[in-house]
Amino acid sequence: MQDSNLSAAALLSVSDLTKTYRDGEAFAEVLKGISFSVQPGEFVAIQGPSGAGKSTLLNLLGALDKPDAGKIVIDGLELTSQIKRATVDTFRRDKIGFIFQNHYLMQEFTVLENVMLPLRVQGVHKAEAAERAKKVLERIGLGHRIAHFPSQISGGESQRVAVARAVVKNPPLILADEPTGNLDSDNRQRFIEVLNTLQAEDRLTIIVVTHEAELAMAASRRLLMKDGKIDISGF
Ligand SMILES: Nc1ncnc2c1ncn2[C@@H]1O[C@H](COP(=O)(O)OP(=O)(O)O)[C@@H](O)[C@H]1O
Ligand SMILES: [Mg+2]
Repeated sequence: MQDSNLSAAALLSVSDLTKTYRDGEAFAEVLKGISFSVQPGEFVAIQGPSGAGKSTLLNLLGALDKPDAGKIVIDGLELTSQIKRATVDTFRRDKIGFIFQNHYLMQEFTVLENVMLPLRVQGVHKAEAAERAKKVLERIGLGHRIAHFPSQISGGESQRVAVARAVVKNPPLILADEPTGNLDSDNRQRFIEVLNTLQAEDRLTIIVVTHEAELAMAASRRLLMKDGKIDISGF
């Protein structure tokens, strides 16, 4: 990389992202020029009220949707509009761990199998995938749940399994969209502890979008989203 400025070291950098949803005559300008960067090992919370465009932004970062304009570079890859489908699929498979508000665990698979899945998709052999998945689950206090099915564990446990599933492949970037949105305060606290522990021990890079102050406060840096922009005045 020939850039000598600070952003050369960034794991993620976005500049001037814009996104407008159109529905016939109606259109909603949701992102009006978003720019920020994230260094490796940072835990960044993007906070903002409902409807601020947080999910829209996160979907762009995870290449689940495309911006109208602007630039996204993650781990050296620029997500241009010309990018090949296969490149995007590989990017998502190898570079991003997603955590959503709903855990989306596969009901017919055990907890262990759910966490093995991202590794199996990467072609990791069954025995190694099982070993790695078990290790992560044990680290977050769910070692006693590996043979259970999602219907046999609590909502709080399910969301912590979703964390294990996101981190098991050691992705450079974890993206989380309102991950504590369905949790009561006790489980929210446990979720935050798990995320903080893994982040510190594995030096994970995490971007979480949320309207919840309690979760945002757990991050090492907070950005405020307002009126389609990152509010530079912050907090
Ligand atoms: N697929 C879509 N089509 C049209 N409008 C959308 C779509 N997704 C989101 N919006 C609108 O964009 C705005 C921002 O939504 P969203 O990114 O989900 O905000 P947040 O996650 O901060 O609550 C909202 O006004 C929402 O109604
Ligand atoms: Mg949202």
